[in-house]
Amino acid sequence: MADRSGDSIIVVESLTKVYAMGETEVHALRGVSLEIAAGSFVAIMGPSGSGKTTFLDILGCLSRPTSGHYWLKGQKVSDLPETRLAELRNHEIGFVFQNFNLLSRADALANVELPLLYDGIGRRERRRRAREALEAVGLGDRLDHRPNELSGGQRQRVAIARALVNQPSILFADEPTGNLDTQSGQSIMTLFRELHRKGNTIVMVTHEAEVAAYAEREISFRDGLPVKDICREKTTDQ
Ligand SMILES: Nc1ncnc2c1ncn2[C@@H]1O[C@H](COP(=O)(O)OP(=O)(O)OP(=O)(O)O)[C@@H](O)[C@H]1O
Ligand SMILES: [Mg+2]
Repeated sequence: MADRSGDSIIVVESLTKVYAMGETEVHALRGVSLEIAAGSFVAIMGPSGSGKTTFLDILGCLSRPTSGHYWLKGQKVSDLPETRLAELRNHEIGFVFQNFNLLSRADALANVELPLLYDGIGRRERRRRAREALEAVGLGDRLDHRPNELSGGQRQRVAIARALVNQPSILFADEPTGNLDTQSGQSIMTLFRELHRKGNTIVMVTHEAEVAAYAEREISFRDGLPVKDICREKTTDQ
């Protein structure tokens, strides 16, 4: 019954999210149903307040829907207990935030090691894998730099390395270029495109059309519902 496998890594059905604000309610999602194919690169667009972050947070298991169903890799997550959700977050999901969310007192290597530490992996192996992840995002020469000793684009690369160090099934990113200048933003998108070509599934929120253009599918939200869903021709090498 709970098994909804196939090509879709994500299936959601009639998802709603209602925030209670004292006497009033905010209907942030109003019954979202869609599927996301494994290996795809999706951009979620839409005006401020349309429900993009609310939707991504539910997909990333950072919050729960008020009603509706969510399957991740065929597993129904909308009614899993909190302990199982935490495991899922640590193993299946990488999350990148607009403001990087790095530990300011830890260097790049220690920041990237963190998810492995939670997983009880030994120090040597942690170091090795964190170094590899940082090399993969082009920061092999910045391992011992703290966040305030890195540029914005480099900080976001550390956050991406941290999100990928556990080899998750899917990478979520909420406005990953929102705090970056145009050039750093483009280089982060080039990195996302590379990660996508290597087979990673990426779901990214952005309000910038130039950023969304890197994705192969664009879903636009308005008032808590997807109103437009466009698939581009598969991008060829440019
Ligand atoms: N924790 C919360 N409590 C109450 N209302 C909330 C909460 N989080 C979001 N909302 C409301 O839900 C709606 C959707 O918010 P959401 O953050 O998902 O929008 P968004 O599309 O990500 O916007 P932006 O582009 O500005 O980031 C908004 O009307 C917002 O005010
Ligand atoms: Mg948002």
